[in-house]
Amino acid sequence: MSENVFPVPTTVAETALVDNAKYLAMYERSVKDPAGFWGEAAKRLDWAKPFTKVKNTSYDPHNVSIKWFEDGELNVSYNCVDRHAASKPDAVAIIWEGDDPKDSKAITYGALKDEVCRFANVLKAHGVKKGDRVTIYLPMIPEAAYAMLACARLGAVHSIVFGGFSPDSLAGRVEDCASSVIITADEGLRGGRKVPLKANVDAALAKFAGVSSVLVVRRTGGDVAMQAGRDFYYDDEAAKVSADCPAEPMNAEDPLFILYTSGSTGKPKGVLHSSGGYLVYASMTHEYVFDYHPGEIYWCTADVGWVTGHSYIVYGPLANGATSLMFEGIPTYPSASRFWDVVDKHKVNIFYTAPTAIRSLMGAGEELVKKTSRASLRILGSVGEPINPEAWLWYYNVVGDGRCPIVDTWWQTETGGILITPLPGATALKPGSATRPFFGVQPAVVDAEGNILEGATEGNLVLLDSWPGQMRTVYGDHERFVQTYFSTYKGMYFTGDGCRRDADGYYWITGRVDDVINVSGHRMGTAEVESALVAHPKVAEAAVVGYPHDLKGQGIYAYVTLMSGEEPTEALRKELVAWVRKEIGPIASPDLIQFAPGLPKTRSGKIMRRILRKIAEDEFGSLGDTSTLADPGVVDDLIENRQNRR
Ligand code: WTA
Repeated sequence: MSENVFPVPTTVAETALVDNAKYLAMYERSVKDPAGFWGEAAKRLDWAKPFTKVKNTSYDPHNVSIKWFEDGELNVSYNCVDRHAASKPDAVAIIWEGDDPKDSKAITYGALKDEVCRFANVLKAHGVKKGDRVTIYLPMIPEAAYAMLACARLGAVHSIVFGGFSPDSLAGRVEDCASSVIITADEGLRGGRKVPLKANVDAALAKFAGVSSVLVVRRTGGDVAMQAGRDFYYDDEAAKVSADCPAEPMNAEDPLFILYTSGSTGKPKGVLHSSGGYLVYASMTHEYVFDYHPGEIYWCTADVGWVTGHSYIVYGPLANGATSLMFEGIPTYPSASRFWDVVDKHKVNIFYTAPTAIRSLMGAGEELVKKTSRASLRILGSVGEPINPEAWLWYYNVVGDGRCPIVDTWWQTETGGILITPLPGATALKPGSATRPFFGVQPAVVDAEGNILEGATEGNLVLLDSWPGQMRTVYGDHERFVQTYFSTYKGMYFTGDGCRRDADGYYWITGRVDDVINVSGHRMGTAEVESALVAHPKVAEAAVVGYPHDLKGQGIYAYVTLMSGEEPTEALRKELVAWVRKEIGPIASPDLIQFAPGLPKTRSGKIMRRILRKIAEDEFGSLGDTSTLADPGVVDDLIENRQNRR
């Protein structure tokens, strides 16, 4: 652990929105008088009907209910588009940088309004109404933002499925929320390679019949199958409609989107976010966490398929009238200096990425960074997983030339926006620490029984009260929402993360304490990978755990027991990896598979994951008590044949 402290650079302090004294005062007000604080903050949006109530929330497990601004009305698309199109039509809303460095374009707020209205009219023509669910399965092209904002304009609820997910994963998500419309592209383009999006949709729809329209954006112009009466090219449809479409006033608590995310058990859950509270929170955090000043070029490298893309490529920045850069490609194409080339090309001021990208670029060497200028950069950000101090220091010293604060932002799909983070002008940084809570956020550290621990301590991270961006429910399953987040520790929201708090009150997130693993910043439920593996005809049983991986943060380690008579061969190992890729998607590919004649189980048949984790970490010297195992002998075989030998 590094106890280096990096003070706020003077150049940043000179123009920062908030210094430390102001942070402390605003924070105190926000937790003492949440209604007053958020009631004022919500004025950053235009309300069609002003709210009279601010906060109405309960974490009581018998009655979990979260409402913010509940009698107000607004439209999210109006707030992200129309009001800026009216006041500054020529300001750039989105800079799009294609996979090929020769492809880029700028979309002004005026143009964005036309595009969004047109898209909304196409959706209307295909029967989409307020409250309907629309699945979006698109690459990182401006149409992804148009489609999101078009849904919001009509009051339809979007569900984005990351383009790297398989047809099966897509089908499950389309079916769960009963979408009748899917928006996709012919093919995606990443690192010069084509992603067969439309073909994946066709494969998904072979299993699920409830979809009436598939809108296909032409991205590569590739030849794809089009089913008459169901599949339509978006540009053909857009040519038939006008560029005027009124924005539907929505209740603040009306849903804005569903985003499926992995948990420790079962299928991914549909995290549901609201319109009013979500947008207030996304916009407020975007401005303060990145110290966003009007005119600045802001770039978040996430994909819109993840929550980071929702809140910090589209909704937060556009609500603030910012210029948001959207990147179609990958960090290493055409070379590992692509990020820094793009920073120079578009004079990016604020850059927000994931530790996994930093670690992989670190491996490519300093030279690729140093040959670029990066003089425009002012603020750097990190999200998705703990950032190790070595990567932090490289990001700070090499990428930022020691000038730019790094905001290490901790949050979750469920939280809608950033909860624990430095503010550039207020917070002295410690490499690896997400530092302090954002306004209105009340973290606490608890022990296994839920006792709140004071001072410098370590335990599980909970939140004691609601903030406007909090998810409202699991789509279609409120009981699961209550069970997952509010039943472990009564009266508290349990994050699933472990953390340490130091003597300065800084938080250090130590990673998930449940059966969720974080692979290259992507959340993965071990149960999902296990159920994909056991669906293979040769697999009898599987157990999946995470293990430390130099680039990915965590890798996927699978223990597999074969059906009797099946041979554990290299070919089968490859087949199982390919199988999981097909079942879930490439992000779920097991890194290591160990064939095991048996798994360590208690006498009641429960798999002892603690032991499997230790062996996967190559830490089998400290297995702890194995005397309760039904057959302690299996452990010797597991150790002997372990796949991760450091
Ligand atoms: C982890 C991504 C440490 C954490 C926005 C959390 C982090 C999970 C950080 C949520 C960070 C996210 N430091 N860990 N700065 N940011 N995490 O839902 O384990 O994809 O619970 O949301 O990522 O992942 P999700």
